[in-house]
Amino acid sequence: MIICDKISPLRSEIRSMRTARTMGALAARVGLVPTMGFLHEGHASLIQKARAENEIVVVSIFINPLQFGPNEDLNRYPRSPEQDQALCEQLGVDLIFTPNIEEMYGTEKVFTRVHVELLGNYLCGASRPGHFDGVCMVVSKLFHIVEPDATYFGEKDVQQLRIVEQMVKDLSMPIEIVSCATVREEDGLAKSSRNAYLSPTQRKIAPEIFRTLQTIAARIHSGERNLMQLQSDAIHHLNHLPECKVDYLLFVDLQTLTPVDQLDANHSIRLAVAVYVGATRLIDNLLIT
Ligand code: PAF
Repeated sequence: MIICDKISPLRSEIRSMRTARTMGALAARVGLVPTMGFLHEGHASLIQKARAENEIVVVSIFINPLQFGPNEDLNRYPRSPEQDQALCEQLGVDLIFTPNIEEMYGTEKVFTRVHVELLGNYLCGASRPGHFDGVCMVVSKLFHIVEPDATYFGEKDVQQLRIVEQMVKDLSMPIEIVSCATVREEDGLAKSSRNAYLSPTQRKIAPEIFRTLQTIAARIHSGERNLMQLQSDAIHHLNHLPECKVDYLLFVDLQTLTPVDQLDANHSIRLAVAVYVGATRLIDNLLIT
C-alpha cells in the first residue's frame, strides 16, 4: 500500500498502476473512497465494495476545512492516522491520499466555487450554510486528481450523495457514483465518526433516533397517511429525550430533497433527521417509499 501526500506523485502512481493492471482490452478501473479519516465499519463497507469492483482502490483522507462552519467541530474532528492505515492495509487498499490543506488548496486565494443549486435548500444545507459548497469543492478536486471510474458514498449522508450525483451529472464527469447502505451499530445507531463525541449516557440515548424513524415507517406501513402528524409526533418524542434537540425531521422527495406532506406512488420519499445529542449533531434517514 502506498501512502501519498502530494498530488503529482499520486497521479503518477495511479497512472503506472493503471498501465500495470490493464489486461489487454480490459482497462484497469480505479475506485475512490473519499473520507475525512477516523475510519469505522461504515467506511470499511465502502472500501470493501470498491475493492470488489475495481483493480485499483484509492482512499483519500482529508479533513476538509471548507465544509465546516465557523462554530463547528473542525478543530476537534477525531483523527486516528495509524488505525486508518492499518484498516486500509487490511482491506487491500492500493493507495491512501493524505494531502495537507496547502497541498489541496494552495496558499493563494481560490476564486472558484462549486455550487449545486436547490438541493441544499433544506435538511443539512439549511442548518449548515456553505457546507455542501465545501463538499462539492473537495470532491470535485479529488475527482480531478484521482480520475476514478467509480466512487463510493454512504446513504447515511443522503443529501451529500444526491448533491454529488447531481454535480457529476451536470458537469459530465465520467464517474459512476455507487451508493452504499448505512452501516449500523447493533442497537441501530448509524455508524459515524462523530459518535465518538458522545458520553456514555448520550450513547445510550442516541439509538432512539433510528428507532423513532422505524416507528414512523411502521405507522405509515400500517396505513397512517397524515405525514405532518407523524412528523410532529416524532419531533415531540425526540425533543423530550434527555439532552436531545431536533434540528430537522422531514419527509423529503429523494430527487429534489424538498419536503413533502403526502405519499406519492411516483416519488421515492425519505424521512431524514438531524438531532443534537448534547453538543453532537447526529444525522440519519430511512427510505419510506
Ligand atoms: O462524507 C465525508 O466524509 C465528507 O463529506 C467527504 C465526502 C469525504 C468530503 O470531505
